[in-house]
Amino acid sequence: MRVLIVGSGGREHAIASSVAKSPKVDKIYCAPGNAGIGQLAECVPIGAMEFDKLTAFAKEQAIDLVIVGMDDPLVGGLVDEMEKENIRCFGPRKNAAILEGSKAFSKDLMKKYHIPSAAYETFDDAQAALEYLKTTKYPTVLKADGLALGKGVLICQNYEEAVAGVKEIMQDKKFGSAGNRMVIEEFMTGREVSVLSYVDGKTIKTMTSAQDHKRAEDGDKGLNTGGMGTFSPSPFYTDEVDAFCQKHIYQPTVDAMRAEGREFKGIIFFGLMLTPDGPKVLEYNARFGDPEAQVVLPRMKTDIIDVMEACVDGTLHQVDVEFEDNAAVCVVLASKGYPVSYEKGYEITGLEQFEGKDGYYCFHAGTLLSEDGRIVTNGGRVLGVTAKGADLQEARRNAYEATKWVSFENKYMRNDIGHAIDEV
Ligand code: AMP
Ligand code: GLY
Repeated sequence: MRVLIVGSGGREHAIASSVAKSPKVDKIYCAPGNAGIGQLAECVPIGAMEFDKLTAFAKEQAIDLVIVGMDDPLVGGLVDEMEKENIRCFGPRKNAAILEGSKAFSKDLMKKYHIPSAAYETFDDAQAALEYLKTTKYPTVLKADGLALGKGVLICQNYEEAVAGVKEIMQDKKFGSAGNRMVIEEFMTGREVSVLSYVDGKTIKTMTSAQDHKRAEDGDKGLNTGGMGTFSPSPFYTDEVDAFCQKHIYQPTVDAMRAEGREFKGIIFFGLMLTPDGPKVLEYNARFGDPEAQVVLPRMKTDIIDVMEACVDGTLHQVDVEFEDNAAVCVVLASKGYPVSYEKGYEITGLEQFEGKDGYYCFHAGTLLSEDGRIVTNGGRVLGVTAKGADLQEARRNAYEATKWVSFENKYMRNDIGHAIDEV
């Protein structure tokens, strides 16, 4: 089989590693990819939003399966474009990717189908939002409707902060057209858990749970980032929580999308909050999480191609999706200054230390192969260092040990990824 992966981050590197393990796969391309993905796949310089070029490439190269890793092309309709050319593509169509693409849509869906989530109101008009904010309880949560790189959520402690938030989202358009509409949501408390799942339109098979650390600094302080590290499984995701979510959240979401004529095929990422009133949905994503994929996929036993093809064909009920009975931790090595401003172009050394070491992975996020053949930093999040272990404690020790193997100027990481493990 010939596979094309669309994307260029640590998530796509993790996907490529799983795809490379499948005996069915002869050749992997990645558009645009990065230096690490380039060791497993042939990287082609086509951007993820260049739909015409991507479909032309897939046709020319007789690609058997396209895997779209990123949210922007999914929400923009890349799968629909591929299907028009009869190219098999793993991921939701545009009318289903809206589950991630519009918070107002997802909130309305949950309300209509009684899927537990925070109470909310939607606003198209800043003035009406400001009036509402005079009467609401604090803290309160403002969310830009559209895609905003995971940064369009503001938690406001009081009316003054909320006024500043409305200005940022709806008037100054800090997140562009994503802020034409806004959701104002009740503030929830509890532990957060990410549960990713494979969906074929009807059947849903959840993967092992994970937890992300979104803040830049130790102690979960500092600015929100794309994710500074993850661990899997979450010790807080008990069998009881799973049983509740299977019954009230997972299958109901898939059924709701089908009932709306928006059959969902691909990955649904459930961002959950385990509140004192039970699990509730914080958000949906229509793709693997990054860096969640970097701890979940290395633990998956089932051939990823079998699972993805079953999703495309609507035969997922015939496949058992199995995970190893162990744990994994991923520590993101970032460039100092991320997520605000940082320098790029520094040489990365020590990557060869991961070669041949079972259970250790160095997923590339922002890296580039320079013209003189060196691997250099090329982004805020540079590498995701993942290690497995018999349990979470061992996985964490192994991951932090492996972070010492690689060096680059301005290397920055959190030192407390997985701190919640100690609170169990
Ligand atoms: P989202 O992009 O919707 O997942 O939001 C990003 C982060 O904001 C989440 O991971 C939570 O930490 C926080 N958040 C979002 N919605 C709420 C809420 N209703 N109550 C409390 N925290 C929230
Ligand atoms: N790590 C969170 C996300 O991928 O959205």
